[in-house]
Amino acid sequence: MENNIDKILSKKIFDKKNIITLLSITNDEDKKKLFDKAYNIKKKHVGNYVHLRGLLEFSNICTKNCKYCGIRSDNKKAYRYDIPDDEIKKCVLHAWENGYGSMVFQSGERKDKNFIEHLNDILIYSKKITNNEIGITLSCGEQSAETYKKWFELGAHRYLLRIETTNEDLYYKIHPKDKNHSFQERIQALKDLKNTGYQTGTGVMIGLPFQTIEDLADDLIFFKDIDIDMVGMGPYIEHKDTPLYNYKDMLMPQIERFNLTIKMIAILRIMMKDINIASSTALQAIVKNGRMQGLKAGTNVIMPNLTPTKYIENYFLYENKPCLKEYSKEYFKLLEKNIIEAGDTIQYYKWGDPIHYFKRNSI
Ligand code: 5AD
Ligand code: SF4
Repeated sequence: MENNIDKILSKKIFDKKNIITLLSITNDEDKKKLFDKAYNIKKKHVGNYVHLRGLLEFSNICTKNCKYCGIRSDNKKAYRYDIPDDEIKKCVLHAWENGYGSMVFQSGERKDKNFIEHLNDILIYSKKITNNEIGITLSCGEQSAETYKKWFELGAHRYLLRIETTNEDLYYKIHPKDKNHSFQERIQALKDLKNTGYQTGTGVMIGLPFQTIEDLADDLIFFKDIDIDMVGMGPYIEHKDTPLYNYKDMLMPQIERFNLTIKMIAILRIMMKDINIASSTALQAIVKNGRMQGLKAGTNVIMPNLTPTKYIENYFLYENKPCLKEYSKEYFKLLEKNIIEAGDTIQYYKWGDPIHYFKRNSI
């Protein structure tokens, strides 16, 4: 029998009300309809492939003070590290030799000359030791247009910068209100990234204190409006050494944040058929194999964490962050098995660029 959900799912374009209805689905039958539709669209438009990005959290030193994040600069309990070049090189070689088409270099945000020049070097040697073959995504925060350009010229071709929330009021509830944390500058940074030529990614956290279903619907509409190439969304997970922890009693249960994230993914896949959507690590922090549920709802990117063990525990953005030793053969085999069981295939030795990027650039 056709119901309201069938009607919405058959529409070409969702309005805000439709998105809110879909986000509010609770019964299993309707959820299945939503996820099946999203998965079929993924299969048709981007294939049921998984693109791997080897994640290297190369430094957790950060000049920012986001109120939700365990490595914010005011958290003096966080042990700070900068991975030495020889270990970074080893990690890049490991990724390349094992068929990861791309890597993500992630760090806290620093805009000083030393940091920028160090990343210049990392890009230069990463390309060199992999015969120019490794694809490079950066996730190093807001930088000047000039810095973005420099890194692009040195071979980085994707950049992730989550907007975190598109509700400006909420943005200033979860960030300090100072010039170091400007919502408008973050939007500008996303524009700069696109103008530089990067395949550009953004995303939000789901289940934040004060966040509403309307906010989440607006987030999805924002991704579409700015014509983004890649999205990574994850549930917000509290961290006890951060100011936002004071609001933990007003949060929905973690499993609900997880379920809401999976619905966000499915709706986004239907709205933006040919972008790349990642199954974020935070999904895995709440539900064992949570990333696989993401795949079934429309994601096509997984970022196994290749950060060496002795550092990984210090990149502690939130509680229960899984410290999977995914660079070990044993863990990797398990991941591959889970992906196959979920119905997908890993694309080895390919960059796995978002099809959307090439389409929007050919118009
Ligand atoms: N819960 C979930 N995600 C978090 N991030 C930072 N802190 C948390 C948290 N407590 C995410 C942010 C950031 C990305 C690197 O990690 O979205 O952009
Ligand atoms: Fe720094 Fe990013 Fe954490 Fe904010 S979310 S404190 S910018 S590492």
